[in-house]
Amino acid sequence: MELTEAKQHIAEQWNQWSVSYDKQYAHGLKSCVESEAWKKVLALTLGNKPRRVLDVGTGTGFLALLLAELGHHCTGLDISCKMLEQAKMKGARFGDRLVFDFGDAEALPLPDSCMDVVVNRHLLWTLPDPQKALAEWLRVLKPGGRIIVINGVWGSIGVWAKAKRLIGNIMIMLAERRNPWKDGYSNEVTKQLPLYGDVPPEEILKLMQETGIGDLHMVPMRLVEQTENAAMPVRYRIAYSHRRYIIAGKKT
Ligand SMILES: C[S@@+](CC[C@H](N)C(=O)[O-])C[C@H]1O[C@@H](n2cnc3c(N)ncnc32)[C@H](O)[C@@H]1O
Repeated sequence: MELTEAKQHIAEQWNQWSVSYDKQYAHGLKSCVESEAWKKVLALTLGNKPRRVLDVGTGTGFLALLLAELGHHCTGLDISCKMLEQAKMKGARFGDRLVFDFGDAEALPLPDSCMDVVVNRHLLWTLPDPQKALAEWLRVLKPGGRIIVINGVWGSIGVWAKAKRLIGNIMIMLAERRNPWKDGYSNEVTKQLPLYGDVPPEEILKLMQETGIGDLHMVPMRLVEQTENAAMPVRYRIAYSHRRYIIAGKKT
């Protein structure tokens, strides 16, 4: 499958970030307590019966690995080969119950109606056509199957949030001797990403509704937020709000 120029740029960025990704706060797990909190919320949203789950934009396999631990059969797809390499290393112990492969979220290499659940975390913001992706996820779901979108509101909207971000970033710069403002994607690429930046959950919900996803509801993630925040240095708690949410829906 040929990727567009923008997607090649995106995949290349994630190839570069793959080695440090799991070390970052709110990306990789930092404690067993955090892992238990994630499993609790996933079990609550998916139920206990083993399902066939697709994790789109799986990265280093964050959700796929947790879901495999919960007993589900999981396929993780991504366009970054290096992120997939990390995921494969971590997932080897699950054998063929957990598969990682190359695949574009907007053009899935899968037949219609083959999955019980489609999940993803932190993906929609980096897609050139999020609505096309949502339609693809619906296509591969069996009737009655579920879509679970996990995102964060990182807190860059409003004057107070902007001031906090500035103070937190200065602290990060001084403590880590790196430039926290430096973003990876080129301006040319970010212009092509309609959900790039801090998009309110209501906007994602509306998009999902418009794509024809039914039975939509929000699931709170307070326990995950609490455990993630507890593991984080103060500078990150100041810079980012780390408010998380799940939007769950159904192929009706
Ligand atoms: C912020 S990371 C999230 C990774 C993982 N879902 C997690 O929660 O840790 C975004 C991931 O989306 C992947 N990605 C970006 N565009 C994609 C696309 N069109 N199809 C599939 N994966 C994509 C990137 O390669 C990267 O691994």
